[in-house]
Amino acid sequence: LIGETSQELGTDSYVIGGFVRDYLLKRGTPKDIDIVTIGSGIELAKKVASKLKGKPQVSIFKNFGTAMIKHQELELEFVGARKESYHHDSRKPVVEDGSLEDDQNRRDFTINAIALALNQLNYGQLLDPFNGLGDLEKKLIRTPLEPSITYSDDPLRMMRAIRFATQLDFTIELKSLQAITENKERIKIVSKERIIDELHKIILSKKPSIGFKLLHQTSLLHIILPELTALQGIEEIEGQRHKDNFWHTLEVVDNISENTDNLWLRWAALLHDIGKAPTKRFHKKNGWTFHAHEFVGSKMVYKLFKRLRMPLNDKMKFVQKMVLMSSRPIILSEDHVTDSAVRRLVFDAGEYVEDLMTLCEADITTKNPRKQRKYKN
Ligand code: CTP
Repeated sequence: LIGETSQELGTDSYVIGGFVRDYLLKRGTPKDIDIVTIGSGIELAKKVASKLKGKPQVSIFKNFGTAMIKHQELELEFVGARKESYHHDSRKPVVEDGSLEDDQNRRDFTINAIALALNQLNYGQLLDPFNGLGDLEKKLIRTPLEPSITYSDDPLRMMRAIRFATQLDFTIELKSLQAITENKERIKIVSKERIIDELHKIILSKKPSIGFKLLHQTSLLHIILPELTALQGIEEIEGQRHKDNFWHTLEVVDNISENTDNLWLRWAALLHDIGKAPTKRFHKKNGWTFHAHEFVGSKMVYKLFKRLRMPLNDKMKFVQKMVLMSSRPIILSEDHVTDSAVRRLVFDAGEYVEDLMTLCEADITTKNPRKQRKYKN
């Protein structure tokens, strides 16, 4: 129908982006389909909608020159093929009409730039100027243009590269990784909301540690979540060492992700040890201690959510509580549980007890069977 309609308008149209990529990867059910037309996306959307059953409403985003139709469970997004250029201080491009090639050039990754033709003459043909098909096979994230241009133009793409690598279990081309590292500071021009959207997607992936390792490797993590990078490293004094709490945290997050899809529980796992960096002390007698790190950590959760402009709602409180309680077996065996405020928190956590147990179990890394029994009890 879209091909037919654009023919009536005397233009060509293509499906492009995530739909084509996921179709070729046989991945999940699509939620949106991006259609690019060599003309006006808004005109095409209006005409398509007028032919669809029930004549669905067309949402028009004039500033972006795009239009969207909700059809059954799908969102159809229409855009005219365009050429983009960027100013240094903004993610918002200067846009002019362009050819299909111009439009493919402006896309983030080769695997997102494959176009599927909808026109009578070449219906079903894949137009793939950057060998995105080859990259799908090689499981490679690669940019159509020089990576430093792609990432500097739109720094959100640095997060997207890492998100796709995590979701699809792909490798990011070395040149791209270097460009991300070089451009990392430019992430600061991206809105917090966009960064969090990508972080959520990384955290919800099958193996979130893939993304966090890449964020760490490119130093983006230090800008976004310095509380986590502060956990990295092992210090040794008088022959006594503590574990590296950063790598330990990634193990806990992967571990818990095998048990739960709950985003907030996964966040709690990610943040469960953040209080350890500021509370780390070395005592001649006791060795390394992280006294009351759960309390400090749960307070840090609030500040972290606030800084990242995440809502300070019950989800945040849940994460705080989980962080506070994640070392519950230890808390219960410590004297400070006599504090009435803490007792109340222990009581409140009752409703989350199953999630809490998953988190605690994910954190039981001790091989000592006596300690394991004690923790489980
Ligand atoms: N795109 C881009 N640069 C961005 C965002 C998007 O080049 N910063 C292009 C890509 O071609 C992408 C398409 O726009 O495939 C659609 O973007 P979006 O819907 O955000 O992502 P999808 O690729 O569809 O993937 P997902 O639905 O998993 O987010």
